[in-house]
Amino acid sequence: MRFSPNFLDEIRDRVPISSVIGARVSWDRRKTNAAKGDWWACCPFHGEKSPSFHCEDKKGRYHCFGCGVSGDHFRFLTELDGLSFPEAVERMADMAGVPMPARDVHEERREKERASLHDVMELATQFFEQKLQTAEGAKARSYLRERGLAPTTQQAFRIGYALDSRNALKEFLAGKGVEKAQMEACGLTVFEDVPVSYDRFRDRIMFPIPDSRGRIIAFGGRAMASDALAKYLNSPETELFHKGNVLYNFARARKALHKTETVIAVEGYMDVIALAQAGFENVVAPLGTALTENQLELLWRMAPEPLLCFDGDQAGLKAAWRAADLALPVVEAGRTVRFALLPEGKDPDDLVRSDGREAFSAVLGEARPLVDLLWSRETSGRTFETPERRADLEKSLRELTSRIKDESLRYHYQQEMRDRMLRFFGSTRPARRGPPGGGGAKDRQAGPWASRGGGNPITESLGRSALLKRSGDVMPLREATLVVAIVNHPALVEEYFEHVEFLDLTNAELRRLHAVLLDTLAHDVNADRDAVIHGIAEAGITEIWERAVELVKRARQWPALAEAAAEDARDAFAQALHLHVSTRTLHRELKAAETALATDPSDENYLHLVEVKAQMRDAQAAEALIEGFGVSSGRSGMS
Ligand code: UTP
Ligand code: MN
Repeated sequence: MRFSPNFLDEIRDRVPISSVIGARVSWDRRKTNAAKGDWWACCPFHGEKSPSFHCEDKKGRYHCFGCGVSGDHFRFLTELDGLSFPEAVERMADMAGVPMPARDVHEERREKERASLHDVMELATQFFEQKLQTAEGAKARSYLRERGLAPTTQQAFRIGYALDSRNALKEFLAGKGVEKAQMEACGLTVFEDVPVSYDRFRDRIMFPIPDSRGRIIAFGGRAMASDALAKYLNSPETELFHKGNVLYNFARARKALHKTETVIAVEGYMDVIALAQAGFENVVAPLGTALTENQLELLWRMAPEPLLCFDGDQAGLKAAWRAADLALPVVEAGRTVRFALLPEGKDPDDLVRSDGREAFSAVLGEARPLVDLLWSRETSGRTFETPERRADLEKSLRELTSRIKDESLRYHYQQEMRDRMLRFFGSTRPARRGPPGGGGAKDRQAGPWASRGGGNPITESLGRSALLKRSGDVMPLREATLVVAIVNHPALVEEYFEHVEFLDLTNAELRRLHAVLLDTLAHDVNADRDAVIHGIAEAGITEIWERAVELVKRARQWPALAEAAAEDARDAFAQALHLHVSTRTLHRELKAAETALATDPSDENYLHLVEVKAQMRDAQAAEALIEGFGVSSGRSGMS
């Protein structure tokens, strides 16, 4: 029986999902926020000790971050209690106090017909399986053996063989009382433009395609002959089979999820099967078409970050890009994709067969986030020597990120792309450097871009940003001291790596020195002072370096200089860093408090601003008390 969406919505709206689920789990007191309708429990679908199962009354959905199950009221009852869908609806209607709709006779007949089509598909599957074991299937068996598929694997995937005959299946099914119309409705026979229908699949290895409940709804048939016109012949669209809504091996992969945390999508049937045999059971494939949005949804029902695996050749890369374009509008926080690219010329099946499962694990280990794929598509193999080209890149990146519908994620993509551009062009040696990899190092950008000023939208928007507003021509002493100390004593970097990498410098010239330092260390973690100084010279910014040193000397910051003992340099650096970080944090808080007050002039926001300002005054006072490194930047800035 089919229910109208309105009817189902009404039920969902009336009954909080937590009251359905609450009958089967005990909520975790610590994580749950009942007032907000935000509930957590240990997942009833897989055994666990700490709660990763979440449901939200507002959305009417549940999701387990452990095993990936998710759904609504009805799904919970069908999947956990094993109710049929109509039974689940009936129970829910009862809880909601709404009457069940009158039966729709027409719909019920269709339901029955569908059920009988499932039976026909099952008969066909058994027929193909059985034929594989006969004398006529000998050639097919040896083909499968040569391809390394163990008999247990063949059985698990219910692989079969379609005889080289125009009516073997047709006659078999007719003998079982199946009508011609049903065979055709299943896509098993063809009778376009011919008086007598005939078997669609002939002389092919048959891969049955199960739906999410394991019922066979279609077939993929692979020709054994290498010169066959179509290597694969798939079932047509039928009442049961909508190619774009199905993933091959979905049901088995979902079962495997409690063992691993993610799901992998590959391109072919044989890849799924060979990988399963090699121990990767959480693998699915689309059915001979590019990934569809519905298939993406299916992947997300299994895991928040499915891995999409593509061949390493040009075609594979194009397919990956297409998938990235598909995903982009629908990714959200905690719902994205990663990309794994195979070595050129090999599909996963080839790879595990020639190099073993470790080789495939290694490929997965190198999977890259969506943002990386987009960035490298826009930048790789191109140069950006002219402002026009840079502006063009900026435009494409902006267009790309604007496709993200999730507001918060869109914001973070914009930030990330902007950072990448700055790092890319801000590098002291742009021509020789490849596109930078993963994100993160927010303040690694050096000056040339930022200080050039005007003209380019990126530069303008940056100019407006707080980042640049504070960077004048004045080189702030404390920042200079930090940079001079670290260049003179690169051994400090190891100890303070995170702080050094993310050193939040307001001064563009000092940022250039900082970028050279990071570059040098990126090429050689053990680089010494001479190497860094050499890098500075190569980048053509020795003049900036000398000015910074001069400033430090004039302010008598001896511990930052090259001659200082390592220990002194370390203490001085640590102290300056501490002050630097806390003032920068306060600065940011001040800005945020000002913005908050401007957008929402509440008493609360006003008091908060007052408090942050007081903290800043305290910090400045503390700084003034500290000799040496604590000199505030304003006083001793060079002009
Ligand atoms: P592949 O050519 O990579 O197939 O196509 P495969 O699975 O690796 O097969 P083998 O190793 O050659 O036996 C990937 C997928 O594209 C679809 C099938 O779903 C296949 O698994 N396809 C391919 C077709 O639908 N028709 C074709 O003619 C070829
Ligand atoms: Mn293959």
